[in-house]
Amino acid sequence: MFPIVITGPRLTLREFRSNDLDASMAVVGDPDVTRTLSFDPRSRTDQAQRLQQDITRAQTQPRPDYYLAIANSTDLLVGFVRIGLGRDQSGELGYAVRRDDWGKGYATEAAALMLNFGFEKLRLHRIQAACGPDNHASQRLLARLTFTPEGRIRDHVFTDGAWRDSLLYSILDHEWADQRPPTGRVR
Ligand SMILES: CC(C)(COP(=O)(O)OP(=O)(O)OC[C@H]1O[C@@H](n2cnc3c(N)ncnc32)[C@H](O)[C@@H]1OP(=O)(O)O)[C@@H](O)C(=O)NCCC(=O)NCCS
Repeated sequence: MFPIVITGPRLTLREFRSNDLDASMAVVGDPDVTRTLSFDPRSRTDQAQRLQQDITRAQTQPRPDYYLAIANSTDLLVGFVRIGLGRDQSGELGYAVRRDDWGKGYATEAAALMLNFGFEKLRLHRIQAACGPDNHASQRLLARLTFTPEGRIRDHVFTDGAWRDSLLYSILDHEWADQRPPTGRVR
């Protein structure tokens, strides 16, 4: 499916564009944001190249992932949300929001929109998410969206010069159908 536009109460999930470069640097270039992700802060040159790759990858068939910009009411990119597709109708969720907009419920709204999309449009059975043991905001988000904790993955990522464990969570299609809050629609 391309292009994807998913509208929520305050936010829109949409495909990346070349002119998202400056705004995306506030996410992937900020060490406060990348500290809890699985990569180190990116330079503008590196991000310019990756953004073009992301734009191209979105148009491959079949898509290996749905990596989308989170845009606010002025269409400014304020973060990203991604479902990577695995085998047996599974997906892995990831998200980040720029530091200035933390605590506004943006990641929760964007993740809920993506879960809706993953279960209803992509017909996934299972969506998992892994986050660092110290990442309390992400753990709160996953709990609010009714993910189930599954355990600890040892030395899961190498970031910031060291190995880091992850906590693994998942949600299944029938669990989401039973509990999901009202969210947006896919155009
Ligand atoms: C994790 C992240 C995406 C959350 O984004 P956000 O838009 O601020 O999240 P929300 O506003 O939707 O809040 C999510 C929950 O975390 C809670 N929260 C926010 N900041 C928190 C903090 N510093 N400590 C504990 N809980 C926190 C919120 O209160 C909310 O819980 P609630 O619904 O029970 O009130 C954001 O902090 C971020 O981009 N971090 C860096 C990248 C990252 O860690 N991504 C996830 C990798 S697993």
